[in-house]
Amino acid sequence: MVELTEVHKANATLVQSQPLVAVFIGGTSGIGHQSLRALAAADAEHKGKGLRAYIVGRNATAAEEIIAECRGLYPQGQYHFLKIDDLSLINNVDRVCAEIIQLEQKESSDPRIDYLMMSQGGSIWLSRTETEEGLDLTMSLMYYSRMRVIVQLLPLLLKSTLPARVVSVYAAGFEAKFYPDDLSLRDLKLYTYSQARSHMIYMHTLFMETLAEKYPDKLALTHIFPGLVIGPTFYSSEHPLWFRIMFRLLHPVLGKFITVPRQESGARMMSLASSRYPARPSDPSKVYREDSVAIGTDGKPGSGVYSLGWKGENNLKLSAYEKFDKDEMRRKVWDHTVKAFEVIEAGDKFTE
Ligand SMILES: NC(=O)c1ccc[n+]([C@@H]2O[C@H](COP(=O)([O-])OP(=O)(O)OC[C@H]3O[C@@H](n4cnc5c(N)ncnc54)[C@H](OP(=O)(O)O)[C@@H]3O)[C@@H](O)[C@H]2O)c1
Repeated sequence: MVELTEVHKANATLVQSQPLVAVFIGGTSGIGHQSLRALAAADAEHKGKGLRAYIVGRNATAAEEIIAECRGLYPQGQYHFLKIDDLSLINNVDRVCAEIIQLEQKESSDPRIDYLMMSQGGSIWLSRTETEEGLDLTMSLMYYSRMRVIVQLLPLLLKSTLPARVVSVYAAGFEAKFYPDDLSLRDLKLYTYSQARSHMIYMHTLFMETLAEKYPDKLALTHIFPGLVIGPTFYSSEHPLWFRIMFRLLHPVLGKFITVPRQESGARMMSLASSRYPARPSDPSKVYREDSVAIGTDGKPGSGVYSLGWKGENNLKLSAYEKFDKDEMRRKVWDHTVKAFEVIEAGDKFTE
């Protein structure tokens, strides 16, 4: 568990270390908004070296308000909003990533991305809903679109001098059943939201591990469960009536005892860019001390991919991954995901 004082110290060190370029996919609400706010606040409080932030989402009014709030905190920062209607479509992901790259190349003689946060959400109440590209909508928003963002932004991530930190905010640590012969969960008898969530968690770990192996020293990747963070989405009319009634009744109790305060959550998310979560070292003889860095998904300190609970501690269910040959499964998930991207890019529908 990382104490909040350590989190704030890490963020102070981070903003004083270099100017930062940060991308928030899903930054127009909830945890993405709070993370950007935390970065702007740390820059202001600790005389940071500068900030350029790219915010991606659907709601332009929310984006304007968030940018005004951040400008109020840290006027020296540059803030850009990129509107996108539906990130569950890989073609839209590609378009917005190309726009980010183009804008960053225009804005800077040293284009790069130091911190990439992905927190695009979606309804947890949907049954399997196929997008026109052949992916399940929920799984696309919370897994495929996120891995595609990383792949498409690699040219700028690999130029980071931090090295680049990639953070996916979802449900790390909740691995349950896994059906490797139906990674897309096309069998409707298997599909429930919690089963889809389990698949997305395994696939996060295994895809991220391949990326970390391909780009040692360059890329540190984290999948985090944020805890219960009450944001605008909890009031959405997308929730069934019983949930909205329950939420209103329980909110005062939840607020006091169970939830993570919004600003604390934002600060914790930003602290994942600290040296506590390093990239996998290319030099195999480099060994990190367990007390200075987090434990990676292979059980070793500082190995480049982190599965974390909301307080920044390792929460990987190692036993869940012992049920199969992890090397083989890593290859399988990589091949499946890359094939989906290739098929969709070619204009076809993914059917595997
Ligand atoms: N908050 C929690 O307590 C909690 C707990 C566990 C896990 N999580 C997970 O953490 C992630 C972030 O949660 P949050 O509370 O920050 O969610 P949130 O407030 O609902 O924010 C989600 C973001 O994703 C964007 N988005 C949603 N659907 C989209 C689509 N089809 N195309 C493009 N953008 C889309 C939203 O854009 P607009 O607002 O502009 O429409 C918003 O910026 C989610 O995956 C959630 O499942 C959250």
